[in-house]
Amino acid sequence: SEQADLIIVGAGLFGLTIAQQAVERNGARVEIIEARGNIGGNAYSYFDEQTGAEIHKYGAHLFHTSNPRVWKYVNRFTSFTHYVHHVYTTHHGEVFPMPINLGTINQFFHANYSPEEAKRLIAEQAGELAGSTPNNLNDQGISLIGRPLYEAFIKHYTAKQWQMDPSTLPASIIRRLPVRFNYNNRYFKDTWEGLPVDGYTAWFERMIDDPRIHVTLSTDFFDTSQPLNRDALVGKVPIVYTGPVDKYFNYELGDLQWKTVDFKEKRYDEDDHLGCPVMNFADEDVPYTRAIEFKNFNPERYDQQNHEHTVVWEEYSRSASRNDEPYYPVSTAADKQLYAQYKTKIAAEPQVIFGGRLGTYAYYDMHQVIDKALDSFENEVQPLLKNLKN
Ligand code: FDA
Repeated sequence: SEQADLIIVGAGLFGLTIAQQAVERNGARVEIIEARGNIGGNAYSYFDEQTGAEIHKYGAHLFHTSNPRVWKYVNRFTSFTHYVHHVYTTHHGEVFPMPINLGTINQFFHANYSPEEAKRLIAEQAGELAGSTPNNLNDQGISLIGRPLYEAFIKHYTAKQWQMDPSTLPASIIRRLPVRFNYNNRYFKDTWEGLPVDGYTAWFERMIDDPRIHVTLSTDFFDTSQPLNRDALVGKVPIVYTGPVDKYFNYELGDLQWKTVDFKEKRYDEDDHLGCPVMNFADEDVPYTRAIEFKNFNPERYDQQNHEHTVVWEEYSRSASRNDEPYYPVSTAADKQLYAQYKTKIAAEPQVIFGGRLGTYAYYDMHQVIDKALDSFENEVQPLLKNLKN
């Protein structure tokens, strides 16, 4: 650390991208400090011994992008499988394709509507509350897709995600509820998608495979009993901080709200339990929002997988407290205002760049965080590295 030209707090995709760029473009010596016992941040995965499944430890991660710069960049470190994401949902003992498409609609109404007929039907049902402005999520959902589809597929799922009755949630949470009037149930619309062929962790290890990058795991930047801490380093060396912004400032101005997810692992003595990688549960009688069967993300690994056992994770959403993993920013108007106040404090921190989803209080997919990191490197980090003497 004495010799590091750049300190990075957090070995998630933002921190790893900055580290890789700092070495490649400036020959910098980089020290990464990571609180967890592994790199990769929330995209970290490991291989399950019993089943051979690649378990995404912090929730299912599917890579997708339409950004040519990002696609080119990530392909330097991994190739991608041909996986194409599809999601199904269980409602009243029946399985439907998601997102809501003509297949979902015709199955739900036991009909054979053409695209035009389905459009007319949904417009008519969505007109139920015509003339009023929806002032909660429930009315907003009805106004967007009509009561029958909203109540079947959105209402209880959303209630489980927020642990709140949708009629008490702001309408602004759902601006759009995309309904497709054809049978396309490919989940993402991006140009490229797939999963890293050797797994996420192999990809991330290749990004920082350079002697000038040193990683210190299981070390918290705020722990003053170890040398690589905030009080010892801020102002002395450029720092990229990718942890929670409110935590950096000891929650001085208040806590930004996050949602977290608890995972409950189930093992079955079957080859395939769900028949797909992701099954949503739309009804209130199932307490979890969705179940993930990791083996099914990688059918190409058939020979390395065990076909007598499988592992499934059920996801339960709830609001996060300080000691939980912060996953999704709640982003109410009050949160946004609070973040704006923290930003004025950020501006006063000497040589500290705040980045990533926690450092900027935003939900980003992986491709967005890589794009942000490439920009941040050029615009914010590189100017601080200009005086390198090597
Ligand atoms: P990230 O949170 O990954 O990394 C931050 C790192 O900083 C962590 O490793 C943390 O331990 C460390 N840290 C924090 N404070 C510290 C401290 N004080 N000292 C030391 N280290 C500290 N994206 C996508 O493209 N497709 C998908 O399918 C999904 N799915 C998905 C599911 C779930 C449940 C979540 C929560 C997120 C996704 N994502 C996603 C988003 C994806 O996880 C996200 O884009 C990246 O992980 C963001 O990388 P960051 O580096 O910004 O943060």
